[in-house]
Amino acid sequence: MPNLFGKRIRLRAAEREDLPTFMPWLNDPEVTENLLIFTPMSLYEEERWYEKMMSGPIAEHVLVIESKNPDTPTGYQPIGTCSFMSFQQRHLSAEIGIMIGEKSYWDQGYGTETMQLLIDYGFGTLNLHRIWLQVYAKNKRGIRTYEKAGFQYEGKFRDGHYQHGRYYDVHLMSVLRDEWKEHFPTETSLSFIEKEK
Ligand SMILES: CC(C)(COP(=O)(O)OP(=O)(O)OC[C@H]1O[C@@H](n2cnc3c(N)ncnc32)[C@H](O)[C@@H]1OP(=O)(O)O)[C@@H](O)C(=O)NCCC(=O)NCCS
Repeated sequence: MPNLFGKRIRLRAAEREDLPTFMPWLNDPEVTENLLIFTPMSLYEEERWYEKMMSGPIAEHVLVIESKNPDTPTGYQPIGTCSFMSFQQRHLSAEIGIMIGEKSYWDQGYGTETMQLLIDYGFGTLNLHRIWLQVYAKNKRGIRTYEKAGFQYEGKFRDGHYQHGRYYDVHLMSVLRDEWKEHFPTETSLSFIEKEK
């Protein structure tokens, strides 16, 4: 797919050369506190993950979240990753995931903007009917971000996650195609590019 452009970010395909950039994020306990990762991650494991991911469905390939930064050669700086997962063709449903690894970018709206871009792409291009996610009940920042992006709470897996010697509920949140139409009178990638000119 072509890059997706938002007001302050773009989403582009991940390259093998990006893997070393991801490593400090994946080994930072604050970043991984609310992710599935629970063991120290080696570059070799990351490379194996990349190979497997690239051999999977193209719409599930991981995307790099980049923030505009005029001081870099490309004009953009990687700050995290995101992707669709678990595509179900018959139900037109997909799960979505995000990690902003550069902690200095937290709480500035980048997560919300990323989710909105993915939602727009998921409904407007991939023709999905339902986009959903799982978030640990303790991840208040994540839950707030998803609410802002238009996701609704729809239930939970009670005690679905074990960490720190105890169980946590796992919340399910989703946005349906009709809600996207109401929630997002969004601009397209092309309109953002036009504004730059
Ligand atoms: C979760 C994550 C995607 C959010 O992205 P972000 O760019 O930090 O989010 P945003 O700035 O768009 O929104 C964050 C919101 O949470 C709020 N928030 C932060 N900490 C909070 C807390 N402890 N309780 C309640 N709200 C909180 C912020 O104030 C902001 O809301 P506001 O705009 O109404 O003030 C990002 O922080 C991240 O990737 N974290 C590490 C990995 C992770 O947890 N991934 C998600 C797994 S489900």
